[in-house]
Amino acid sequence: MKISVIGLGYLGATHAVAMAKLGHEVIGIDKDVSKVESLLAGKIPFFEPGLAEALAEVLAQGKVQFQTSHSESSASADLHFLCVGTPQAADGSANTSYLDAAIDDLAPHLSPSAVVVGKSTVPVGTARKLRDRLQEKTGFEPKLVWNPEFLREGTALEDSLKPDRIVVGSFKKEDSFPLLVAYEKLLQAGSPLVELDVPTAELVKVAANAFLATKISFINAMAEIAEVAGADVVALSKAIGYDERIGNKFLRSGIGFGGGCLPKDIRGFISRAEELGVGQALSFLKEIDGINNRRRQRVIELAKQELGELSGQKITVLGVSFKPNSDDLRESPSLEIARSLAQAGAVVTVTDPKALPGLSDSQLSKVSDVDQALRGSELVILGTEWDEYRRLDPLKSKSLVKSATIIDGRNVLDVAAWQSAGWKVIALGRTISND
Ligand code: UDX
Repeated sequence: MKISVIGLGYLGATHAVAMAKLGHEVIGIDKDVSKVESLLAGKIPFFEPGLAEALAEVLAQGKVQFQTSHSESSASADLHFLCVGTPQAADGSANTSYLDAAIDDLAPHLSPSAVVVGKSTVPVGTARKLRDRLQEKTGFEPKLVWNPEFLREGTALEDSLKPDRIVVGSFKKEDSFPLLVAYEKLLQAGSPLVELDVPTAELVKVAANAFLATKISFINAMAEIAEVAGADVVALSKAIGYDERIGNKFLRSGIGFGGGCLPKDIRGFISRAEELGVGQALSFLKEIDGINNRRRQRVIELAKQELGELSGQKITVLGVSFKPNSDDLRESPSLEIARSLAQAGAVVTVTDPKALPGLSDSQLSKVSDVDQALRGSELVILGTEWDEYRRLDPLKSKSLVKSATIIDGRNVLDVAAWQSAGWKVIALGRTISND
């Protein structure tokens, strides 16, 4: 089938490549000339494992092309996927203006038989507004369906090619048929199809992210309790996770969640519920956000407890991306901690396997070599659990630092091994004796 993908960020670029891998003829469209040039040259403008290789493959097969605006060719697509961003506005709500602009650009090129497929994360009710806008601009009743995307950064391509569910919301059931044809291989491979009305499909995405954020903040609230009760949140998480009704996934305590989705999506969801007059239903999500932010503060407190006055103290932060296998710095808990420490006067060195090129912050010293970053450090903070840092040799690392104290912000280190190499280990939600 012929497909256009509008918006080539994390979601759109991955979706374009995935659709081409499924054998479709794909045209990716983005107004950002540098993004389009980069993709045409086979370069993904962000780090995502496996995506560059897959892009090279589909470019070589002539399955995908990229352009900065609609053309005769993209106008003949059977499906137009809307993948533009919905960033957080100043008041916490989701800014849907890029979707409006995408609709306005598409309208003059849309054929009545083509289906517009929304994938962006939106406040419930957005799809109807977009459909009405499209109808007004085209003068015909457009086919619009909603198909939220659940891919995770770090495993984006795999998630797109083996989705754990395909959710499709439609105003008229038959409008979704071409989409199901496009996804035939995924459905045949066993991905379950969930067919819904449009508002429910819109809600599935924000509800899923709100639930995931809640799980993480729940375990981090337990960490707060464990810290004062002399308990161990890692053991607690494991113990409750054996209960299949709870499950052991997304119960990793630490400095909390960040990224381009979870923080913004819960705030957007709260804002939408308030608009709809049911703000109380989601008031607990404000606490989820609050718990998340308190964990970052806790690391600052622990650093102060350890070093006293932070001014002039040399601190090394391992990892600044919001999670491993990504170079995304948006809402990164680790980066926010590094910045707060620097603002308090500490001399902060940050290191990261992938995210340093995208970081411009004059207060932080960027060092790509981890040994170099550790040299002379008076406090080390593990902020992002890249494999490189999990596998660090504690003995060698000790020989590099000035003072062997580490705060494990992700509860991933082998505490006994680090202690026996002479380190003082401090972890969130754990009572660790360093005597
Ligand atoms: C998320 C959703 O998982 C995905 O389905 C949706 O499409 C987009 O938003 P992503 O932003 O890639 O994906 O990150 P995710 O893997 O969910 O992690 C989010 C944050 O939570 C990270 O900062 C991670 O470090 C943190 N996290 C995750 C924890 O602190 N503890 C956990 O147990 C799991």
